Amino acid sequence: MWFALLTVLWALALAGLFYMTVRFHSFGFIRRLVEKSRLLSWCAAFGLLSPLALFLLFNIYTLVIVLLHLVIFTALVQLAARALRALRKRPVSPNAVNITALCLTAVYVGCGFFAAFHVFETDYSFKTDKNIGGSLRIVEIADLHVGITQTGESFARQIQRVNALDPDAVMIVGDFVDDDSSKEDMLRACEALGEVKSTYGVYFVLGNHDDGYFNYREFSGSELRRQLAAHNVVVLEDEAVLVDGRFYVVGRLDKSMLNRKSAAEITAGLDESIYTVILDHQPNDYANEAETCADLVLSGHTHGGHIFPAGYIGLWTGANDRVYGTENRNGVDFVVTSGISGWALPIKTGTFSEIVVIDVTQI
Ligand SMILES: [Fe+2]
Repeated sequence: MWFALLTVLWALALAGLFYMTVRFHSFGFIRRLVEKSRLLSWCAAFGLLSPLALFLLFNIYTLVIVLLHLVIFTALVQLAARALRALRKRPVSPNAVNITALCLTAVYVGCGFFAAFHVFETDYSFKTDKNIGGSLRIVEIADLHVGITQTGESFARQIQRVNALDPDAVMIVGDFVDDDSSKEDMLRACEALGEVKSTYGVYFVLGNHDDGYFNYREFSGSELRRQLAAHNVVVLEDEAVLVDGRFYVVGRLDKSMLNRKSAAEITAGLDESIYTVILDHQPNDYANEAETCADLVLSGHTHGGHIFPAGYIGLWTGANDRVYGTENRNGVDFVVTSGISGWALPIKTGTFSEIVVIDVTQI
């Protein structure tokens, strides 16, 4: 499947490069080169695209996404140019079309880079009538995918920021690493979790990427678990812990994992008078989770849609119950974060990277 996906991506990249080379060949200064040498003119048009090759420094996915945006913006600007020509009865020069499309793409993708690399803080407040000893502050972090926009070292700086928020507990909701994470980044990120200063420590569930899909990275899922445990991180795999008699944390295996328990099975036997937080990487078991004794369900996985309009496709196809934000179902508060980073693409459009601060107050 991955081979097919990569083949499609390379085909798209080549098609995009071909289309944009043809577009750039319409620049006036390049067209004048045709008189000297047709080959030279095509080389110059292709050469104009060479800055895009910089995106190969990230990966093929980034190159394809940037090219795709360039093609879409060029098509939109061409449409606008045709409408303008009909109105003014004068043609718009190909130079103007190309330059406008390039500028729009640069601004749009540039904002996407900023939204992916800069980590915002999002705050939510919920109320409960259960006895939580007054209030509870939870920091939720998901989808680090360490190595794409956050290195182990920069994640450690984000943890210093988390410490300043004075949390009661920090919840890591999956996809901490993926196939492309280096061992060095993984080790530093685990070490950073050991530097968390909170009342009750760090609770962790795995996402679909944490165990890796392939065998090419330098560490296994087991080694990740060992490193987390070595830094006092509580990894929950279909199990619940009662924290200081004050609240439960229930950590579910990821939906992609075999033999995961149902929401009902994993919460059976819990004291329903105690505030319960479920950590579930993928936000797509809401109907069942809303029927349990849970009060709060935290998820990530969607990256807030990552590249517009992917999030809407996830909703329309029913792949996710929610892409971003909060909702209350049957008295249960659900939160989906867009994540502190994301998989493969160092660009987020229509969303942004974040850490989530949740204040629960007893009424
Ligand atoms: Fe993810």
